[in-house]
Amino acid sequence: MKILVTGAAGFIGTNFVYYELEKHPEDKIVGLDLLTYAGNLENLDGCKNNPNFSFVKMDIRDRKEIFDLFEKEKFDVVVNFAAESHVDRSIENPEVFLKTNILGTQVLMDASIKYGVKRYHQVSTDEVYGDLPLDRPDMFFTEDTPIHTSSPYSSSKAGADLLVGAYHRTYGLPVTISRCSNNYGPYQFPEKLIPLMINNCQNNKSLPVYGEGLNVRDWLYVEDHCKAIDLIIRNGKVGEVYNIGGHNEMRNIDIVKLIIRHLNKSEDLITYVTDRKGHDLRYAIDPTKIHNELGWLPETMFKDGIVKTIDWYLNNKEWMEKIVSGEYQNYYDSMYKNR
Ligand code: NAD
Ligand code: DAU
Repeated sequence: MKILVTGAAGFIGTNFVYYELEKHPEDKIVGLDLLTYAGNLENLDGCKNNPNFSFVKMDIRDRKEIFDLFEKEKFDVVVNFAAESHVDRSIENPEVFLKTNILGTQVLMDASIKYGVKRYHQVSTDEVYGDLPLDRPDMFFTEDTPIHTSSPYSSSKAGADLLVGAYHRTYGLPVTISRCSNNYGPYQFPEKLIPLMINNCQNNKSLPVYGEGLNVRDWLYVEDHCKAIDLIIRNGKVGEVYNIGGHNEMRNIDIVKLIIRHLNKSEDLITYVTDRKGHDLRYAIDPTKIHNELGWLPETMFKDGIVKTIDWYLNNKEWMEKIVSGEYQNYYDSMYKNR
């Protein structure tokens, strides 16, 4: 099988490429990425000499290049991770989110139809369901929860999901969609909560907690997400949506304190800053469908995954240094300086 993985040099795409190459040595993977600020080709150094892997720098919005690539490679499966993925950036600059996340998805699906792709998989997010109240721990997102988005990011992902559904119904494109909760693990760009806090904490910088830190996210170790997608593209039912999440709800403040404790630092580093606009309160996935239909269950407990993750960042200081010494500093100042 030949699989196109878009967004391959980003956080989850990188982890997915390694997962697939190890789990299915009989398959060929083409990794595609535009290498935006979030894409890092060095992430893929570990497989650049693998004969089953090749990389192409390309923009999913570039119809001509994408069509040429599909004509040449004759993919069986497309897994679309490529996206603008950070909520805070979408609040500052929504446009690129709409262009990449919706129009880029359209280009990939048009090419998939023309060149007979057997499965188009859209990597989506639990954020398309909006949020849940903090005082209703009995409520969860199921695949039937209505789409109800809060941010330009989640709206662009929801727009793409609707288009994927329409391409299935109208043109018969064989699609699946997965909606996952918050991932954590190696190679995550330090604009996101966990790597940002690890990096700041290590460097004795203040830890900017939005609002009171009481918002809840449902954290999943990235490898468990990769395993779920692998199951869906091979055994999932065409036209279906699958929620992915591990029943691991945590308040932001508790995650930050856990990182502080693990790194032997002081809670005095915590700084409460102005809340995110439209900040979703709580995400919580009901993963019954993927469990019952595909036998998926998360394997990494949070208490183990978070230690593995912190240790990975400690052991890969150069990876972090390269990122934070570049354009990242301007981003950080504009987002946090006068917050
Ligand atoms: P990321 O920002 O780390 O990676 C996105 C990758 O897409 C980057 O490598 C970037 O260079 C690439 N990209 C951006 N625009 C592109 C374009 N026009 N053409 C080609 N490549 C382009 O994001 P991530 O956290 O790895 O998320 C991957 C996917 O998973 C996204 O679709 C996101 O919505 C979804 N998702 C993420 C999470 C999470 O917790 N991180 C959870 C659920 C779903
Ligand atoms: O739920 C899945 C989504 O998870 C994905 O679709 C997104 O691509 C991914 O970025 C993530 O979105 P969140 O907005 O939940 O992740 P983020 O790491 O940005 O923030 C997690 C929580 O931590 C959120 O409540 C905001 C808070 N936060 C975040 C940052 C960066 C802080 O308190 N301080 C911070 O500096």
